[in-house]
Amino acid sequence: MKNNGNGTPRGISRGVFYKGKRLKFEEDCIILLVTICVVKGKCAMCKEKNIENYNKHIKGVLISEEEIKAAVAKAGKDISDAYDGKPILLVSVLKGAFVFMADLCRAITVPCEIGFMCAKSYYSGTVSAGVVKITMDLEYDVSKYHVIIVEDILDTGRTLNDVVKMLKARNPLSLKVITLLDKPERRVVDFKADVSLFTIEDKFVIGYGLDCNEEYRNLPYIAEYNSSIE
Ligand code: IMP
Ligand code: MG
Repeated sequence: MKNNGNGTPRGISRGVFYKGKRLKFEEDCIILLVTICVVKGKCAMCKEKNIENYNKHIKGVLISEEEIKAAVAKAGKDISDAYDGKPILLVSVLKGAFVFMADLCRAITVPCEIGFMCAKSYYSGTVSAGVVKITMDLEYDVSKYHVIIVEDILDTGRTLNDVVKMLKARNPLSLKVITLLDKPERRVVDFKADVSLFTIEDKFVIGYGLDCNEEYRNLPYIAEYNSSIE
C-alpha cells in the first residue's frame, strides 16, 4: 500500500482525533478510552438492571393466556346469542380494557359497534386515588343502542358506578356490564357487574391491559404484581 513516507497510508493523517480535534498526548488517548469504557459499561449495566427489575415485579401467572382465551370465547358466544338482531354498542373504558375489548369484539359473531371513553381512577402505582375522572367522553348517541360496557377490572366499583350512572342518564335501549376481573373484597360502593369472567382475591394484578405505572399492559396473561421489591 502506498504511504506518505512516514508509515501512514495516503489520505489518512497520523494521530488520534476526537470530535475533529487531534489529541496531542498519549495520556489524552488513554483518558478518552477509559472514559468510553466506563460510560459504555455503565449504560449496559443499567439496561440489564432495568429488565431484571421489571421481571422481578412479575410475581407469578395468576390467569394464563389459555384460560383467558377460553373465557373470552364463551363470553363472545353468549353475547352473540343474546343480542342477535339488536344494535350493539360495546363501550370500553380505557386504557385498561383495550386488550379485553379487542379480543371480546372478535369473539362476537354478530354485528356490533365499538366506542371508547377514558376514565381514570388509579393515578399512582398500586394506590387508588378514590376519585374518578372522565377524561374522554363517548362520541355516540347511546339511545339507539343496547350498550355493553367492557371493563378490565371491578375493584372499588367507583369507576363503573359513575360510568353506568352517566350512560344510563342518556337512555340507552339497555345497558349491561362485563368485566374481565372482579375483586369483590375491595368494593367500597354497592356495584355488581352482569358478567365477570374471573373473580380474584385482593391482589394487585398486571397484564392483559392492566398496568402498574403504565407498564406491563402487554403481558399476554394476568400476573400478580410484586410490590415488595424496590
Ligand atoms: P375501581 O374504580 O376502583 O373499581 O377501579 C377500576 C380501575 O382501577 C380499573 O379500571 C383499573 O384500571 C384500575 N385497577 C383496579 N385494580 C387494579 C389492579 O389490580 N391492577 C391494575 N389496575 C387496577
Ligand atoms: Mg389502570
